[in-house]
Amino acid sequence: MSSNLYHEHRPTQVKSIDNQYSVAPKVARENNMQSFRFHGFKVPPTADYLESRKIILTNSDCNIILAAPTESQKDYFYKNTDADELIFVHRGSGKLRTHMGNLDFKYGDYLLVPRGIIYKMDFDTDDNRLFIVESYRPIYTPKRYRNWFGQLLEHSPFCERDIRRPQELETYDEKGDFLIKIKKQDDIFDMVYATHPFDVVGYDGYNYPYAFSIHDFEPITGRIHQPPPVHQTFETDAFVVCSFVPRLYDYHPQSIPAPYNHSNIDSDEVLYYVDGDFMSRNDIDAGHISLHPAGIPHGPHPGATERSIGQVKTDELAVMVDTFKPLKVTEEAMKIADGDYFKSWLE
Ligand SMILES: [Fe+2]
Repeated sequence: MSSNLYHEHRPTQVKSIDNQYSVAPKVARENNMQSFRFHGFKVPPTADYLESRKIILTNSDCNIILAAPTESQKDYFYKNTDADELIFVHRGSGKLRTHMGNLDFKYGDYLLVPRGIIYKMDFDTDDNRLFIVESYRPIYTPKRYRNWFGQLLEHSPFCERDIRRPQELETYDEKGDFLIKIKKQDDIFDMVYATHPFDVVGYDGYNYPYAFSIHDFEPITGRIHQPPPVHQTFETDAFVVCSFVPRLYDYHPQSIPAPYNHSNIDSDEVLYYVDGDFMSRNDIDAGHISLHPAGIPHGPHPGATERSIGQVKTDELAVMVDTFKPLKVTEEAMKIADGDYFKSWLE
């Protein structure tokens, strides 16, 4: 996908490159075979948006990030040159400003920012919690929900009407010093431009940031257990993102609503718990992340299967990221890790 942007000024006018510093994740566990639970809300609130972003899990395809920024970006713009960013808003609201227009966001929104988009996050309050996937592979909606022309099919869990495009294109015909913090290869470059980066008067094309609310995801249910692909929301060639939303449980008269034990042979499984009651887990709260590595089975905690019998619906809200390559656990993750979680299935 591409877009042609029409600028007031040449977008090439670099004045200086003032700083270069690394934001590479520090890996604590290179090879990991341990299931983990992380207390996401223990990530400390931090004023600056970029500094607030803590990489929890990482591999060569993506970074899984938690952030609790308390202030809007005031004096700089940001651009990620080699990764698409999927920003899930768990707490907070505000406006994502980009050079292709603005997107209002609130609780439950996925913001998809393709690489190369210059943006600024404006928050309404200081209470913000974001779950971000930074992806070196392009992020698309699932191909199997689209026809040959790209139209979403009728059995897709969302449709074009649910996808919010940028509004209120802000165009500033200004000269001066404009700092864009540009991320490339795990480094941030502080680049000062001579013209305002939001100087676009219009564009043609299909490459633009957009928003999609998890609350607009229509779940697919069945008489018997539906496998995770029915929850799929986004795809790349290196991981998938799924949305678990309030829905009816399996309604066969003999169904057991809790999932069965399963061993992912082809992906590490990350679940970010957003809201509701997480039936198959004991002692899981909003903001927690579970990591179940590929190759060993996991499933309901003791008692959860029995507890689920006879229940007809769930109010759970969760985001799952299944990565095809194993994830490395970072030092930031170990600060919020529950070291005994891997023993939580013992009877
Ligand atoms: Fe699983």
